[in-house]
Amino acid sequence: MSDTSDTMFRKTFLDVKQASHAPGLLYNDPEVLQQEIEQIFKRDWLYLARAEELPNPGDYKTFRIANEPIILCRDEAGAIRAYANMCLHRGVEIATGEGNATEFTCPYHGWLYNLDGQLMGASYMRDSEGFDRKACRLPELHVGQWGGFIFVTLAKDPVPFATFIKDFDEKFGYLNLETLKIGLRVDSELQCNWKLMVENFVDFYHVGVLHKDSIGRFMKSVDLTYDLRPNGQVFVDEYDAGTLSKTGDLTAKRIAALEGKSPRFSSAGLLTPNLNFFVRPDYVSVYTSWPLGVDRMRMTGTILWSAETIDGPAREPVVSEFKVMLDKVLGEDFAMVESLQNVTRASRFVPGRMSRLEKGVQHFIKHSVERLYGPQAAEAESADRVADPVK
Ligand code: FES
Ligand SMILES: [Fe+2]
Repeated sequence: MSDTSDTMFRKTFLDVKQASHAPGLLYNDPEVLQQEIEQIFKRDWLYLARAEELPNPGDYKTFRIANEPIILCRDEAGAIRAYANMCLHRGVEIATGEGNATEFTCPYHGWLYNLDGQLMGASYMRDSEGFDRKACRLPELHVGQWGGFIFVTLAKDPVPFATFIKDFDEKFGYLNLETLKIGLRVDSELQCNWKLMVENFVDFYHVGVLHKDSIGRFMKSVDLTYDLRPNGQVFVDEYDAGTLSKTGDLTAKRIAALEGKSPRFSSAGLLTPNLNFFVRPDYVSVYTSWPLGVDRMRMTGTILWSAETIDGPAREPVVSEFKVMLDKVLGEDFAMVESLQNVTRASRFVPGRMSRLEKGVQHFIKHSVERLYGPQAAEAESADRVADPVK
């Protein structure tokens, strides 16, 4: 793989006017997925939950990310903590699902941990020579918080969280996201590579066609201006689109920071590796795409509205209308990305040319490839472009 990576993506990294999509291998090679797990998912900051989902001491949620079990909890002092969800005896997950607990008891042989990850009890271990219960703690993971979003990283020595979130904070910090509340969560397992869904969320080319009966109807133009960052992040600062309701008109109270904006104000961002972010005057939606296998993934969505909407009588009609629309739009997207996955193995499949509307998609692919194979995969292309601009 590595000996050909410099040329494999050559056409993908040309200027978008000359470029073609990525080879199917990027979406169906188990070796690529393994590299992504090691180089991306075990190194990056990953959004796992909102702070409001763990309001009280003892509240916890568990995850399996990149084959790593994680437990996220609020400790007695009210701080959010993250641990490897792995018993120090043989490694069984000490908690599953979510809930509230004063301590965690491993279901296999009963070792007991407090919310600080300290091993508090281990029966029949007195004769185990050199075993020091007090020295046993669950491995702790770094936690970062921004706007009510909790991020965790599996890296021992990660990029500082402030550095990671800087661009996003500059773009979206003014929204005071910590004041918003969850009205809806969605969770879907899809038969496709995780990157296809991340790409789909920055692909505005399809919106007027695939979603012609819903959001496509309300979008004035899909020919948008992209702000592409070297860290792979993609922003569309402002575009004109209706909100996700039957008519495209606002159905809920505006987010306070957007009071002065047009009712059709929209904004979007991609926070690498796997978080897609959309702003409308009345809600913010956040989607994460997680690999379950090279051709399987889980997509989770979290939709936030103002506290007034979520705590008041408007909640039920607003959220239920939104859900009908969202199910329709996502259902349309899911069918496309699963079809794309299928074709990556087809004998006649040749990646086709890109439209200039696919700059965001191209940027994400380029960043992903650079993370796997180093910047030389793209640099080799730049040199080649000068030598032969039509390749
Ligand atoms: S694996 Fe947890 S107590 Fe044995
Ligand atoms: Fe879509």
